[in-house]
Amino acid sequence: MTIGFILNGEDVVVRTEADTRLVDILRDNFGLLGAKTGCLIGKCGACTIIFNGEVAPSCQIPAFRIRGSEVITIEGFSQTDEFEDIAAGFSRSGLETCLFCRNGKVLAAEALLEQKAQPSREEILLGFSGIKCRCTDPDSLVSAVQAVAEIRQKRLYGRTA
Ligand code: FES
Ligand code: FES
Repeated sequence: MTIGFILNGEDVVVRTEADTRLVDILRDNFGLLGAKTGCLIGKCGACTIIFNGEVAPSCQIPAFRIRGSEVITIEGFSQTDEFEDIAAGFSRSGLETCLFCRNGKVLAAEALLEQKAQPSREEILLGFSGIKCRCTDPDSLVSAVQAVAEIRQKRLYGRTA
């Protein structure tokens, strides 16, 4: 089938099977390798993207669902000011990321801060519960997201709350 959708702000068309996973389409048809194939059952976060404005595991989205949708991958998101906030906050707090989890951690942070400018510890841990990483302790995660929140408040309003 032929499917049109918006990918990182551009209209694109792909020819594929109806049940092909979006993560495979991104990697194989568009060469976007930021979303990784990990567990393929929606549990690890390696394949995270933004789908119609919501953070979602692209391994769980079959091709037939993407017609007319808007997909943002880490490659597209990394061109934004919001990404810069997250990169700066992660770096300032020394949060560990690797090629496997970075995509998911960045987009999970964005999803969280979109909903709440200053999420609580519990909200942060819940927001990251779909990102599998045994190398990061909960305190580091919370400090990193709080650092991002502070940097964002400063960029948007010239102050921290
Ligand atoms: S590969 Fe999609 S959530 Fe693990
Ligand atoms: S730092 Fe990447 S999986 Fe833990």
